[in-house]
Amino acid sequence: MWGGRFAEGPAAVMREINASLPFDRRLWRQDIAGSKAHVAMLGMRGIVDPADAAAIGEGLERVSDEYGREGVPADLALEDIHMATESRLTELIGPVAGRLHTARSRNDQVATDFRLWVRDAIDAVGEWLAGLQRALVGRADEHADSVMPGFTHLQSAQPVTLGHHLLAYYEMLRRDRSRFADARARMNECPLGSAALAGTGFPIDRRATAHALGFERPTANSLDAVSDRDFALDYLSAAAQCALHLSRLAEEIVLWASQPFGFVSLSDQWSTGSSIMPQKRNPDAAELVRGHAGRIIGAFTALMVTMKGLPLAYSKDMQDDKPPVFEAHDLLALSLAAMTGMVETLSFRTERMRAAAEAGFATATDLADRLVRVAGVPFREAHHVTGAVVKAAEAKGCTLAELSLEELRAIDPRIDEDARAALSVDASVAARTSEGGTAPVRVREQIAIARDALGMEA
Ligand code: ARG
Repeated sequence: MWGGRFAEGPAAVMREINASLPFDRRLWRQDIAGSKAHVAMLGMRGIVDPADAAAIGEGLERVSDEYGREGVPADLALEDIHMATESRLTELIGPVAGRLHTARSRNDQVATDFRLWVRDAIDAVGEWLAGLQRALVGRADEHADSVMPGFTHLQSAQPVTLGHHLLAYYEMLRRDRSRFADARARMNECPLGSAALAGTGFPIDRRATAHALGFERPTANSLDAVSDRDFALDYLSAAAQCALHLSRLAEEIVLWASQPFGFVSLSDQWSTGSSIMPQKRNPDAAELVRGHAGRIIGAFTALMVTMKGLPLAYSKDMQDDKPPVFEAHDLLALSLAAMTGMVETLSFRTERMRAAAEAGFATATDLADRLVRVAGVPFREAHHVTGAVVKAAEAKGCTLAELSLEELRAIDPRIDEDARAALSVDASVAARTSEGGTAPVRVREQIAIARDALGMEA
């Protein structure tokens, strides 16, 4: 395609290092769509004879059908998807194919194709994220009243509801979706017509191609349009943040599925056995979601570093933009699918969670609050009293709620039956009714809002 002034062909290794076809084949649908929009515009403008433009458009359809049926050929000599398509088009319709590349360069072509691809990727991720959110909300609904220990420093801190804990992840994913949506809105400008770097002298209609491809408008600066990849970095940054959230949930599943915790058991479908220890049920999928986050964050870093030293405009380094995006996208797809499956099928061992919440003296603060509010005890003093209560339970080897009223009154006579009731974990969670708090009534409100936002039945 570009060999006119060369006497010899490239060395084999040159061919190999230069070729992007092995990975940019994934852009074939976007490449065909971009070319069809471009040639239709060339015909409309009379830059290419309308009959030739129509022949090229039909030829592109045939190439597209072939790719769909047989895949894109892997021949390295074809270099990249843009040249592979043009070369096949030439075989099918003859020399008229040579008019397709008028007023265009592979630089604006690849920038356009890749934006189209990332845009589709964002739409797909949005759907997958909504699927995981639905799974979380469904399980939160089942467990709006189930009590578990809430942790700080991984120490039992205060009882919370399992529904509340699961909805925390719903919120993280809600922000992840909005980050992807922001990236989509920002990148939705069309580079086509920027040509190699400076624009073109042909009387093209950039608005027509932008519109045909579903972009908001043409990009404003041709140098920027062919040489920035911030749209891919926006995608990767949103993907990295999302993977980080998935990794934290994965870590909790690993922890909760361990024998000492025993808060969940994984379904057969989402665990693996050990070849030598029959008692084991390993959370491999959760561990791999946690592991994949490392690779996705790595992909973001890789492209940042690729881009950081490049002068304007296009440099071939930028061909390396695609593998990290494809890798991150595939890993995120798997991670989201696996996480959705795990969340849907986990069994929560709510009796163990409740016992752990009771065992951790996690309602001590509730008694202190109660003494402050009802008996008018200064908080510092109340804190001291509850410290003594915790000590008594520890000495007796029981939970706080198991101490009798007499035992409590022996510590401080201001403790009455109502104050004692505050020591139960159910009373503790029910009392936390502040907006965004863990009380089941609040959790149910949040579930209703989430169901509505996700289009789930009430
Ligand atoms: N395969 C190239 C890429 O992905 C296409 C653009 C090549 N442009 C060029 N002037 N060599 O970046």
